[in-house]
Amino acid sequence: MRKPIIAGNWKMNNDISETETLINTLLPLVAGAAAEVVFCPTYLGLQKAVEMTKDSNVGIGAQNMHFEKNGAFTGEISGEMLTAIGVKYAIVGHSERRQTFNETDEAVNKKAIKALSLGIIPIVCCGETLAERESGKAKAKVVGQIEAGLKNIDDIGKVVVAYEPIWAIGTGKTASKEEANEACGWVRETIAKMYGQDAADKVRIQYGGSVNPGNVKELMAMDNIDGALVGGASLKPTFSEIVKF
Ligand code: G3P
Repeated sequence: MRKPIIAGNWKMNNDISETETLINTLLPLVAGAAAEVVFCPTYLGLQKAVEMTKDSNVGIGAQNMHFEKNGAFTGEISGEMLTAIGVKYAIVGHSERRQTFNETDEAVNKKAIKALSLGIIPIVCCGETLAERESGKAKAKVVGQIEAGLKNIDDIGKVVVAYEPIWAIGTGKTASKEEANEACGWVRETIAKMYGQDAADKVRIQYGGSVNPGNVKELMAMDNIDGALVGGASLKPTFSEIVKF
């Protein structure tokens, strides 16, 4: 039985004091959720967020991490630095990082391997563009990202995958529950080919893309969807309705 996991990706929103305010608002509201709950503030907010959620049901995740321990990587933060302050999750290969910061499948793979070696749960993102979906290439894109991004992983059962079709991110246009479930199925099928069905059955797969309190229930009812990676709707008090779907 896979435990549902619902994460809020706060993206580049909220300064330190706004982060504090949002956590104070959300913490009592998300208490008691059956799902594993994760908040992913900016790097700047991580330490405060870890302190504030210490005795709660919320885990804290970074939105990215570098695979090297330290060195001449201006502007980057390492997994070691994250574990040192108690960060437990890291989003890896979000489409915004792939598109805007040229993050490759190879880097995604290195980050996922490094995160696991440090005890950080990587939330590895995949998903196709609108053009790819419309030209019938969605499956090939997702399968390719999983094959390359999740190769040579020792403990695949600990990985969380987020399927986020790029056309559904921040657009208000959610994939239908059938489309989302089918694509999460491609992810599981690919992992099964790589690591066996038993291992694939342990991997939690989230759907992301305009998830809100109104659509979360039907998405979560699908057999291949084990959670959600939520952007815009995770910045509001009603995120609690999502985690308590
Ligand atoms: O990582 C979550 C995200 O990209 C989805 O964003 O705003 O469509 O929920 P949003």
